[in-house]
Amino acid sequence: MASFEWRVHNPDGQRRVVVTKELPGRRWRDILTAADCRVEICTSADILPSAVIQEAMTPRCDAAIGQLTEPWNDAMFQALKAAGGTAYSNYAVGFNNVDVAAATGQGIPVGNTPGVLTETTAQMAVALTFAAARRTGEAERFLRAGRYEGWLPSLLLGELLWRKTVGIIGAGRIGDAYARMMVEGHKMDVIYYDIYPNEHLEAYVAAYSQFLQAQGQAPLTCIRADTLEELLETADCVSIHTVLDETTHHMINAQRLARMKPNAVIVNTSRGPVIDEAALVAHCQKTPDFRAGLDVFENEPAMAPGLDQLDNVVIVPHIASATRWTREGMATLAAANVAGLLMGYPVWNRPDILSFLEGDLPTVVPSILNAKELGLPMAG
Ligand code: DGY
Repeated sequence: MASFEWRVHNPDGQRRVVVTKELPGRRWRDILTAADCRVEICTSADILPSAVIQEAMTPRCDAAIGQLTEPWNDAMFQALKAAGGTAYSNYAVGFNNVDVAAATGQGIPVGNTPGVLTETTAQMAVALTFAAARRTGEAERFLRAGRYEGWLPSLLLGELLWRKTVGIIGAGRIGDAYARMMVEGHKMDVIYYDIYPNEHLEAYVAAYSQFLQAQGQAPLTCIRADTLEELLETADCVSIHTVLDETTHHMINAQRLARMKPNAVIVNTSRGPVIDEAALVAHCQKTPDFRAGLDVFENEPAMAPGLDQLDNVVIVPHIASATRWTREGMATLAAANVAGLLMGYPVWNRPDILSFLEGDLPTVVPSILNAKELGLPMAG
């Protein structure tokens, strides 16, 4: 198999599963072993070309676990099907790298790993928000460069977000968790933009506001914006938690950045192409008090020219979900997806996935995106 290195786990397993990257933890391997799988794991850090993955799946492969850096398109699912494959799981909650319709066309269920990234990713969004608002990257570079000569009244002034307004684009699980962190920790009003109302979040903020008032503190509000523009004009910091598809590609462009407050913060932990990155660079260049915190980039691992030169941008390399608990949980869910499918279990597809993470594994498949389209049996 080309020059990439692979290792085999449970060599006597009767089913063959290809895993395109080493995954953290042990539970995921134990799950596949219990499902009688020989597991072939690529141990190279390099991103695998499609041809290498297809070759790895030849001549027989019952299931594959792939990465968000790999395009799982029609050709890939054709190759998996030709190798006798009946199951695929992405090692991610996001699935913009997967052509789910193509997989459905080949009769292959596609799993993902929701539920274990929620608080972890929201926490990173909070970290980026304050790193940007309080200029921690810039301050650290200043200090490390030996430029600190003593405390000054106006040194590196940033923005206080306390009691201001937080804007959430995409108020699903992660956006909801981020909003709650900003409400509880920083007493911020919420404005959110989503095609669906988030009644849970609205009720939560209303109840928290009542609690604050009972303490003699000012109330909080949570409103759903009618338009994205309304949110961008109102919010002091904006965090993006939407999926990437054709409706959200370049959702944040030059015109919309211009609608934001000149000292606002924008944070993206979703997918890079939701922001027109070149437009963001231009906006940050001409609006020095505007700040951005980015975990994801339009053409990862590359960055738009000029982005890494901007002092008003904080950048981290797509690590929002990078806690041990989350990454091990993602491995567990991905393995449980393919093992459960190979064992013929019904599909769970419900928000509570914690029962998969320890103890006896439930005899259901945690999360399958095209379960309905394929008519898979659902857990009662
Ligand atoms: C995901 O799971 O989609 C995340 O982007 C991984 O960090």
